[in-house]
Amino acid sequence: MDKTALEASAPEQADRSSPCGGPAFLLDRHPPKDDFAADVLEGLSKPQKQILPKYFYDARGSDLFERICRTPEYYVTRTELKLLSDIGPDIADIAGSNVTVIEFGSGSDAKIRRLLDALPSPCAYVAIDISRAALEPAIEDLSRDYTDLTVGGIVADFSAPIELPPEARCGGKKLAFFPGSTIGNMERGRARLFLADVRAMLAPGDGFLVGVDLRKGRDILDPAYNDDEGVTAEFNLNVLRRINRELGGTIDLNKFRHLAFYNEADGRIEMHLRSTADQRFEVAGEQIAMARDETIHTENSYKYSVPEFVLAAESVGFRVLRTWKDRKSLFSIHYLAAI
Ligand code: AVJ
Repeated sequence: MDKTALEASAPEQADRSSPCGGPAFLLDRHPPKDDFAADVLEGLSKPQKQILPKYFYDARGSDLFERICRTPEYYVTRTELKLLSDIGPDIADIAGSNVTVIEFGSGSDAKIRRLLDALPSPCAYVAIDISRAALEPAIEDLSRDYTDLTVGGIVADFSAPIELPPEARCGGKKLAFFPGSTIGNMERGRARLFLADVRAMLAPGDGFLVGVDLRKGRDILDPAYNDDEGVTAEFNLNVLRRINRELGGTIDLNKFRHLAFYNEADGRIEMHLRSTADQRFEVAGEQIAMARDETIHTENSYKYSVPEFVLAAESVGFRVLRTWKDRKSLFSIHYLAAI
C-alpha cells in the first residue's frame, strides 16, 4: 500500500470521543479553509464571471438543495435512491462481507443507509468530508444506529489522495462510495484525476461504487433544473444573498434571474445568474459592474454516457464490473474494481 499520502500530511489529532457508542475515531487533516472573499472577487473579475458551486451550500442553500431533491422535476436523487435499493443484493454479491465502506462526503442521508443495510456484515464505515461541522453530526447519527460497525470520520479535502488510518481497516475489502452524481460538478479532466486518486487509495480487488447522471434529452434535463415551484431558482440566487451577508455585498437580487439550460455539445447543465439591467454593486469593498444580460456562471453539472464513464474509469486502473441503470435510463451506478 502507498504510504506517501499519510506521511506527507501534517500531524493529526485523533479524537476518541463518546465512551458509550459514538464514532470510534475522528481525524482532522486540517484541509485549507475556503477563502470565500478571494474566490468570489477572482471569479467576478473574469471575462465570464463565475462563482464556484461549492459556495451554494450555506445553511439555507443546503435546505434549498434538500427541497430541490423533492421537486417532481428533479429526478436525480429519487432515481438513484430507488436504484440503490433495487440493486442492493447485486452489490452485496460483488462486495461480499466484512467490507470497509469509505464515503466521499458525509453519510447523513438515506443513501449510505441503503448501502450499509444491503451489505452482509460490513465492518467499518469511514466518511471523508472537508467540513468538520457536517461530518461530526453525520457520523454521530450513524454510529448510534449501526452499533456493530466501526464508524469514523476524516476531515480532509478529497480532491487529493487520502491514506486511511489503521483504525479503519478490518481485513476485508474496501468499498469506496460516491453517490449523487457529485462527480458531475467536476470538469471531465478533473473527474478523471479524481478517479485516479480514489484508485490510489485502493488495493487490487477493492471496489468503488459511484453514481453518475446520464446524458439525456433536454425535455427531461431542462425542467430538472427549472422546477415550476422555483426552488432551483431560489437555490441559485441564494449565493448572492450569502455574498451580501458574509462579504458585505450590496447586490439587488431583483436585478438577477435564474438561468439553467442543457449545453448538449458539452453534455452539461449550465446554471447562471443573468443580470436584468446595467448595474454596479459592491462586494468586499470592490466595485463590480455588470451589463444587462451578462451572466455569472454558477454551476456545471456534467452528464455522461455509459461508455464515456467506463472509458474514463478504465483509463485509470479500474475495471467496470457492473453498470446498473433505472428503467428509464436516467441514472447509472457503476461498480468499479481496482485492478
Ligand atoms: C449535487 C451537483 C449533483 O448537479 O444536479 C441540483 C446540484 N444544482 N440542482 C446537480 C444541483 C441544481 C446537483 N449536484
